[in-house]
Amino acid sequence: MSLLTRRRLLRRAAASATAAGAARAGLAGAVAAGIAASSATVAGCDDTPEAAPDSADSPHGPLRFPSGFGWGAATSAYQIEGAAKEDGRGESVWDTFSHTPGRTRNGDTGDIAADHYHRYAADLDIMRNLGLSSYRFSISWPRIQADGSGKPNQRGLDFYRRLVDGLHERGIAPMATLFHWDLPQALQDAGGWENRDTAERFGEYAEVMFRALGDQVPVWLTINEPKTVVQNGYIWGHHAPGRQDPAAAYLVAHHLQLAHGLAVRALRASGQQGRIGPALNLHPCYPADDTPEAAAATRLYDGYENRLYLDSVLKGAYPADVLADLGPDSRMVRGVRDGDLAVISSPVDLLAVQYYTPIYVTGQGDTVRKWPTSEAEWQQIYPEGMYDILTRVTRDYGRIPLTVTENGLPCPDRLAADGTVDDAARIDFLRDHFAAAHRAIRDGVPLESYHVWSLLDNFEWAEGYEQRWGLVYVDYPTQRRVLKRSAHWYRTVIRDNGL
Ligand code: FCB
Repeated sequence: MSLLTRRRLLRRAAASATAAGAARAGLAGAVAAGIAASSATVAGCDDTPEAAPDSADSPHGPLRFPSGFGWGAATSAYQIEGAAKEDGRGESVWDTFSHTPGRTRNGDTGDIAADHYHRYAADLDIMRNLGLSSYRFSISWPRIQADGSGKPNQRGLDFYRRLVDGLHERGIAPMATLFHWDLPQALQDAGGWENRDTAERFGEYAEVMFRALGDQVPVWLTINEPKTVVQNGYIWGHHAPGRQDPAAAYLVAHHLQLAHGLAVRALRASGQQGRIGPALNLHPCYPADDTPEAAAATRLYDGYENRLYLDSVLKGAYPADVLADLGPDSRMVRGVRDGDLAVISSPVDLLAVQYYTPIYVTGQGDTVRKWPTSEAEWQQIYPEGMYDILTRVTRDYGRIPLTVTENGLPCPDRLAADGTVDDAARIDFLRDHFAAAHRAIRDGVPLESYHVWSLLDNFEWAEGYEQRWGLVYVDYPTQRRVLKRSAHWYRTVIRDNGL
């Protein structure tokens, strides 16, 4: 691995440690609570009162999205389900990690989370109440195969069947992610994503799911944010499995992508009609200044952040600059076998884009901040980045259908004495990002739907329950759900199909 890469990775590890510290100190950046507004309690499946008018009139003028545009929200299994030991669920790497002292804020775990496993029917009613047309959720692999292989657990399959049926009953299209980081611990014990066999096991698990739900799920997403597993899980070590081993990290990147390709092939082989694609967190990268050094460093940075995951799937080759930077003797380069890239680039039907933040790169390969950050210290608030990344994907990779599967903001949400949650900053954030997406569509981007992260407040990985990302507030001691002001606002966006 080149000097630049090694230095960059070390600096970033240090920067992220600082970021965690800053977040702990409660620095909310530009996110400030606004004026009192309306939101209402949703007790189970009760209906909610009408939203009071809010101050979020669109400064973007009336914007209408194409007819049939999908409006959704996203969640993931470990972050909301709870019921960690029920109905034959096995352990995942996130159970192990979160139960290891010092790994998550306040020692929080996903044992109970938002208790969605038991409350899914009421949560489905909330989705209907908001008017969602699409719901993106993930399937917990260890609920289906406790040890990551072999005969599926019928009770696990039944849960997702109930969920999917419940979505159809309410006119909401299911979008299922096969892997959102909760690898069965038994597979981790056998080497995890460093072990090529894990990709094969994933292909088999995907096949199980296609057989079980293929007739009811129109869109499948394979791996959620492989890059986050690579960086957070294997370079910085603050996500499961908590490793700090850059050489292993990029081999993991390859195996995750191989797993993606095997799942795509399994869907085609199953004869099911559903569409499938990867879910990638893409970061528009910009030079921090006008120097040629910053331009060059940004180019390589973009390779690690974006092209490593896009070129492989959509062009059938890893980017040459990244491979050269890793070096021919790297574990990753040595781990790529003949035919792997053909599997990885098996034609997909759509690309799921997750956008949260831009990255600014100096000539030394460091990152700097240019915009206010959110409670998640890594997130700079820059709506224009949404436009840039969507148009860039279309420009560089052709007119593959796109869906935004994550975009959102953590806010210091508080349940007020009158029972409301005022998250004006989230409304501003979403409105500006929706407008950027609208502009991208107008400029020719085939974007078909948009999923806000997240439907519910949930277990935000190493940050535990402190960061609240939901449209719906979860009062964890009671598990009561309260629509935040942004949820009421989002309902009007959906109703009007625009701003
Ligand atoms: C994304 C993850 C999602 C959530 C949001 C805030 O990277 O996919 O689970 O943690 O960030």
